[in-house]
Amino acid sequence: TRVEKGGFKHFMAKEIAEQPVVLADALTHYLPEGTINLPETLDFRGLDRLTLVACGTAFYACSVAKYWFESLAGLPCEIDVASEFRYREPPLPHNSFAIFVSQSGETADTLAALRYCTDKVAKIVSVVNVATSSIARESDVALPILAGIEVGVASTKAFTCQLLTLAVMALKAGRDRGHLSDEDFAAHVAALKTLPGLMNAALSGAPRIAKLAEQIAEAQDILFLGRGVMYPLALEGALKLKEISYIHAEGYASGELKHGPIALIDRTVPVIVLAPHDRLFDKTVSNMQEVMARHGKVLLISDARGIAAAGEGAWESLTMPEVAEPFAPILYALPAQLLAYHTAIAKGTDVDQPRNLAKSVTVE
Ligand code: G6P
Repeated sequence: TRVEKGGFKHFMAKEIAEQPVVLADALTHYLPEGTINLPETLDFRGLDRLTLVACGTAFYACSVAKYWFESLAGLPCEIDVASEFRYREPPLPHNSFAIFVSQSGETADTLAALRYCTDKVAKIVSVVNVATSSIARESDVALPILAGIEVGVASTKAFTCQLLTLAVMALKAGRDRGHLSDEDFAAHVAALKTLPGLMNAALSGAPRIAKLAEQIAEAQDILFLGRGVMYPLALEGALKLKEISYIHAEGYASGELKHGPIALIDRTVPVIVLAPHDRLFDKTVSNMQEVMARHGKVLLISDARGIAAAGEGAWESLTMPEVAEPFAPILYALPAQLLAYHTAIAKGTDVDQPRNLAKSVTVE
């Protein structure tokens, strides 16, 4: 199939904009009225552990999912990048699933990691965008993320669809293991179903983000901070930005700021804080204040409550819709993607084909 840009300047812009629609399709598939549509054989009862392995953006999806499997299902969860995992040759409890996440389903390191796990674990599960891929074929269970073809080298819609698929798995795990009450389970399902609408609202912030990006584009170093389930999103935000704008960016757990990166802070360093008004919000605010006390340029991305409580003194703030706490990374991925995209536009780089990068890395 030939994919067109459909009126957009870049595939990346089109793929960012498609997210409410593809996510809605994936929701219809995985969460039809009143039930979860996952294979019955994907039974999480009695498991000792999950191991999630991937590369790049898919690894950050695994990193978010670790928080979900632990908190929603009480299931211990190990994550690793495939290039480390495959040579580390870790011992694996037989009573565990190994889960491989890959947009292409062809990443060489991820495939090698999968082969390492064969016969060592109870089930090999993959979360892929290409159903006919090597990784899908070599798995016991292959779950499609249903993102449609992704052309832009910087992954966008595949990331949010990977997250959705993993969130649905975590909810099934929570129910299988008796960790979630029927009430909590229903509330989480309902929360996931609000995401396409919230994404549309988040996308309407694009012109504002484009303006901020003109200033971000002047920076030489940028920090992304997040706490809890937002920490992996800070890593993804930094990855996206460096991939396509070539500006050095790092993601950090907010609480780690004082253990090093705070030494970098001065007037020239934008610090992008991804912080919905959640349970840990006040902790993140104190980290933000440490940055502001050193004249760092804080861009606070939060909801109206968060910005009212802590926006003062920030360089800029960006208001997001309110979203149920565990699933905020799925929504906040959009401003992170838009910021990377518009910063790259401001710098005039090749957004869809960034230098030195490949869409799919099939060699080691
Ligand atoms: C490459 C791409 C990334 C992607 C990574 C993993 O580095 O540029 O966007 O996240 O590979 O790819 P996969 O197809 O396994 O998800």
